[in-house]
Order: sequence, then C-alpha cells, then structure tokens
Amino acid sequence: MDSKNTYILKYKGYNFNRSLVVDSDFLENLDDFEIRDDDVFVITYPKSGTIWTQQILSLIYYEEHRNRTELVETIDRSPFLEYNLHKIDYGKRPSPRLFTSHIPYYLAPKGLKNKKAKVIYVYRNPKDVLTSYFHFSHLFSSLRASENMEYFMEKFLDGRVVGSLWFDHVRGWYEHRHDFNILFMMFEEMKKDLRSSVLKICSFLEKELSEEDLDIIVNQATFQNMKIDPQANYDGSVKYELGIKTNEGHFMRKGTVGDWKRNLTVEQNERFDRVFQRKMKDFPLKFIWEID
Ligand code: A3P
Repeated sequence: MDSKNTYILKYKGYNFNRSLVVDSDFLENLDDFEIRDDDVFVITYPKSGTIWTQQILSLIYYEEHRNRTELVETIDRSPFLEYNLHKIDYGKRPSPRLFTSHIPYYLAPKGLKNKKAKVIYVYRNPKDVLTSYFHFSHLFSSLRASENMEYFMEKFLDGRVVGSLWFDHVRGWYEHRHDFNILFMMFEEMKKDLRSSVLKICSFLEKELSEEDLDIIVNQATFQNMKIDPQANYDGSVKYELGIKTNEGHFMRKGTVGDWKRNLTVEQNERFDRVFQRKMKDFPLKFIWEID
C-alpha cells in the first residue's frame, strides 16, 4: 500500500480516495470478501450516475422509502464497498444487501467474478463525466480542486484522479462482462427514458412492480425530486462526514446531457476526441451519447 501524503491512495494500480478509505486491511482482502447470491452492486466510474442508480435501487428495495426508510441516508442503504465510512459490519447485514463501488473489474471480489450477485454498471459520456468531476472537485474537500478545466482535463486524461482512467474502467468492465452477472446502463438512456430504464433494471433484478409502484419510483428518481430529497443526494448530515462544502454548490448540480459543450473549448474538445479515438478505437461497444 502506498503511503505518500496525497489525496490519492494508489493501490494495485488504482487510485482510491485516501480520506474515504477507513480500513486498508479490508482493501487488502477485497478478493475474499464474501458475496451472497442476492447481493446487488452498483458500479461506476465517479460522476457517471452513481447516486441516481443508488436511489433507484434503494427505492425498489426499501419500499419506495416509506415506513421510515425515507429517513435513512443513501450511504447506509447502499454503502460504498471500499469506503465503509460508517464501519458497517457487512457480514451482519440482512439480505438482500445493496452495495456501491467505483472499483475496477480486476479488484472485484472473486465471488462477483463467479457470477454470484448482480452488478449494474452505469457509464456516461466521458466529456460530461469530466465536466461533472471538475465542478465536483471544488465541492468535495477531499479532492484537490483544480483551478481550471485545462489543468483538470490533463489529469483526467492521464488518469491522475480518484478512479484512475475512465477508458480503462469502462473497457475493463465491458471486456470482462462475461465473468459477471452484469447489466450495463447508460446515463444518457436513463435521462431520455427513466421509466424504461427502471423497468430494465427491475427485469434484471427479477423484480415485478405494479404500475403504481413504478410511477412512485420514477417520480422519486427524477433530478428535480432528488435535488430536494436530502437523503438522496448527500445533503443530510452525511455531507459533513464526507467533507462536502455546502457553499460551493450542490451534489445534484445540473443532471443534464451535453453540459461539456458549455465547459470545454473547441481545442479541448478536439484534444479529447483524439485521445478517445486512440484509447477506444478497437472497443466493441459503439457509443452514441446524444439520443434523440
Ligand atoms: P452533473 O454534475 O453533470 O450535474 P455520481 O453520483 O456518479 O457522482 O454522478 C453525479 C452526477 O449525476 C451529477 O451530474 C448529478 O447531477 C447527476 N445526477 C444525479 N441524480 C440524477 C438524476 N436523478 N437525474 C439526472 N442526473 C442526475
């Protein structure tokens, strides 16, 4: 384990957020973490729709947040595997357990690689990920805020950020998809048709919802409603534990598709495209980010 005093903890080639790793022994033993058949994991590269998907799963599994589950923070309903901030004893958690994670495929516990449990992997246009991440770095005190997009983009395209390189993360999970019981969801598709996306998730989870339940879930997972739901967007007391600076903006920033167009210059966009082409040219999945 590397011991340099930076906000990044590099472990087995992957950049973790140092301030959120509460148990480094847990990381060392991640491979052997016991997976149950009915565990469900949301896995993403940061800023790709993690909290949104956590919210959808949480609504599905926690009775649409009725009966007082509406008071539980997202981080407790679906904790981060590698960042166990509340030191939850995962082994004692009742089934079905929900987990969230940003780990690359190669760090996944071997039970996941043996197709125990279900994984929902969400990906998003990396230019929007970059944009969202840039703004987030100002909000999240444990990340080093970048003065400008130029500098942040350099780091992002070099993988010198928490989460490492976007290209490696997406490629890794996709190319090893046959090792996992995995559903790929695209942020842009979720944005275009949330109802169909929730149905797709339910079908993967083998959960049947009534029309009424579906309506409630879709409604509570819209950007507008999540923005005013403190539990759904780290706006409850957990924001202090996470070190989210409330005066610098909001976790639920814009929730749109294509905001990169307002944040990247023509030159930056062209540079990004060149790197994208180089890194993803032989990638089997063809991305169409703008869906009409
Ligand atoms: P923006 O910064 O572009 O607004 P993550 O949870 O992986 O950190 O991703 C955060 C991004 O997802 C933010 O993007 C946030 O606004 C967006 N997001 C969260 N919930 C959303 C929702 N219900 N609809 C659309 N976007 C959402």
